[in-house]
Amino acid sequence: MAQKLQAPRGTQDVLPDQSVPRLALERLARSVLEGAGYRRIETPTFEATELFARGVGTSTDIVQKEMYTLEDRGGRSITLRPEGTAPVARAYLEHGMHKLPQPVKLWYLSSFYRNERPQQGRYKQFWQIGAEAIGSAEPAVDAELIVLLHTILTEFEVADLHLRLGSLGTPETRAVYREKLVAYLRANEDRLSEEVRSRIDLNPLRAFDSDHPGTREVMAGAPLLMDELDAGDQEHFDEVRALLDIAGVSYDLDPTLVRGLDYYARTVFEFTSGALGAQSAVGGGGRYDGLMEQLGGPATPGSGWAAGIERIVLSAGHRPEPGPVLDLYVALDAGDAQGDDARAVRVTAFQLAARAREAGLNSQLELAGRSLKGQLKQAARAGARYVAVVRPGEIGLKDMESGEQRPVAGGVDAVIHDVLRGRGPVVL
Ligand code: HAM
Repeated sequence: MAQKLQAPRGTQDVLPDQSVPRLALERLARSVLEGAGYRRIETPTFEATELFARGVGTSTDIVQKEMYTLEDRGGRSITLRPEGTAPVARAYLEHGMHKLPQPVKLWYLSSFYRNERPQQGRYKQFWQIGAEAIGSAEPAVDAELIVLLHTILTEFEVADLHLRLGSLGTPETRAVYREKLVAYLRANEDRLSEEVRSRIDLNPLRAFDSDHPGTREVMAGAPLLMDELDAGDQEHFDEVRALLDIAGVSYDLDPTLVRGLDYYARTVFEFTSGALGAQSAVGGGGRYDGLMEQLGGPATPGSGWAAGIERIVLSAGHRPEPGPVLDLYVALDAGDAQGDDARAVRVTAFQLAARAREAGLNSQLELAGRSLKGQLKQAARAGARYVAVVRPGEIGLKDMESGEQRPVAGGVDAVIHDVLRGRGPVVL
């Protein structure tokens, strides 16, 4: 026998039971975001590799080691999207969205691909809900985005939720700070991990992320970017904080919050859940005022976030939700009938299920050739309100609540009529 195949490591099937909470989350996110004026956008699953090299940054882990990159016909390098902000920014520029009223508020729900080492909550293919507001530098944009994500996560009952907030300042502030930090790291080089040491010049800020004990000790005394913000950055950050206070969203200031993408400037944030293991970030984002220029567009401010669907569902526990009500289960009982008579039963049953759907009822047709007893059992399992039993020349209707059974004169339409009436008046 041929060997059974499995889904690649780090990927997951979403089985029907698992799709229930995901769908609930999608509905919630949609209603929160569209209610605030965000409109859905879809970008392609793959993009020119250069988009991520320029947008996400060549010094990031994502671009250095996690991208799925391949050659298209004609030798063009393409990459499965590892994140959604650079693609949305590209779409904004490509479609001249600067002509629309600003900021342009967009949201997405898409799959993303990163070649990371898989573990609980970390996959090679995962899904994000994301929101991007492009075209405004207002601190209110950042605060509002954070409040919207907070609303989604709390309404979905993500357990033990925390918000970390920081500001990275503008690129100029960061350049000055960077030199200061590099000098500090060089002065303490012998206590740093090999990896951090090798990246001092490339990405010194990432040293704050290290869990190497020596590096952590050194970083505890390191200069902090948040102490170096210029007056404009400070004012912007103070306003974001004041608006979050007004909205009643609490947060911890985290001067060492470093996000793994290069496009951030000023506000950065991350929501974590204590219910998750090592991969505790459920969502994060920030402001990316320099990104559009990196992508060859005019200077255009932007801000946004993305949240991992798998992690949200994991951290919120199981959320049982009733499935759709099954109004009618169509069973067949051909008895001793053969040939055309047996076929007539199958055709009537098929028609009844289809016509019931046309009439707005949820109906299921027996498809497995079970005995009548087996069919009634299956109907009960499926939660059917009524079961129609189609026999040669006759249809019977069983009310599964009262147990009452009776023949229905008048064929398929009469059965549908009775089921509709049994549903009671429609409440609008
Ligand atoms: P990110 O922090 O890389 O940001 O990802 C956002 C969220 O996606 C994470 O908090 C996590 O929940 C989920 N996530 C990331 N990688 C994985 C993975 N391998 N497996 C499962 N879940 C994962 C961004 O992607 C930015 N584009 C966010 C943003 C939007 N910033 C501004 N606008």
